[in-house]
Amino acid sequence: MTSSVKDTIYKLLTVMDSETQIRKYLKRFSSEQGLKFAVIKVGGKILKEEMENLVASLTFLKQVGLTPIIVHGAGPQLTARLSEKNIAAEFVDGQRVTSPEVLKAAREVFIDENHNVTSQLKESGVDATSFYSGVFECDIQHQDTLGLVGTITSVEIEQLLKTVKKGRVPVVSPLGETKEGQIVNVNADSATFSLAKAIQPYKIIFLTETGGVLDEESNIIPNISIVNNYKYLIKQPWVHSGMKLKLEKIKDILEVMPTATSVSITKPQLLAKELFTDKGSGTLVNMGEKAIE
Ligand code: ARG
Repeated sequence: MTSSVKDTIYKLLTVMDSETQIRKYLKRFSSEQGLKFAVIKVGGKILKEEMENLVASLTFLKQVGLTPIIVHGAGPQLTARLSEKNIAAEFVDGQRVTSPEVLKAAREVFIDENHNVTSQLKESGVDATSFYSGVFECDIQHQDTLGLVGTITSVEIEQLLKTVKKGRVPVVSPLGETKEGQIVNVNADSATFSLAKAIQPYKIIFLTETGGVLDEESNIIPNISIVNNYKYLIKQPWVHSGMKLKLEKIKDILEVMPTATSVSITKPQLLAKELFTDKGSGTLVNMGEKAIE
């Protein structure tokens, strides 16, 4: 482990003061041999700006014996690559229009970013395996408007679970294939939700720049209960459209998951605090009335 990773882990630990809480959560997350601990989505912006904190947080998780599954995005990187190649970036309803040449660039960028994560994890002593195919089977439903964008129809988790079982962190790119073998671009949030549905992990975690769902005054909302707060929240003008979409998807997924499952939105630097303290650091979304004790 490099000394900067050590320093960051040390910083992670100093924000947590209760050993009892740490032990409680560690025990909870480690059940089922840690097989189904968490699916963690890491946005492209985080890969660009917070790689060191991300690697330190994941190294910390590994050191306490937890192996998450990572799904990454790479939106900003792809937009940059397209502009280098003079290809226009187009969006319809927040979804990237994927022509064959956009798909080619997307594949290159996803593979680069995926390797970047796995190699930095390895440098930090964490075994990691890249997955950029064979996970998401897709249909192409809107070829005329969106091009080669996949709607996930099934998820193949066997290889992922085998990897986790060996203690290696799977790093999954948002790429799918159709039954006919056409590679397709998949929205990374959708990939995360589909994967979570298939894996049924204890935690679904989104690492974002803001580190949670923000209220009107840009403060992080610590808890959201779907049953009690969802209807109100979704109507608020200050909940921006991207977050609205995410909340809708979170609601849909929590409705079909075991009740103990929760979604946490936080940032890399505060991940350990979110996971191993009662109060957490970001936004915890669950079905019920209050945070699960
Ligand atoms: N550590 C617990 C968990 O990960 C509770 C987190 C509480 N977080 C919050 N933002 N209220 O499930």
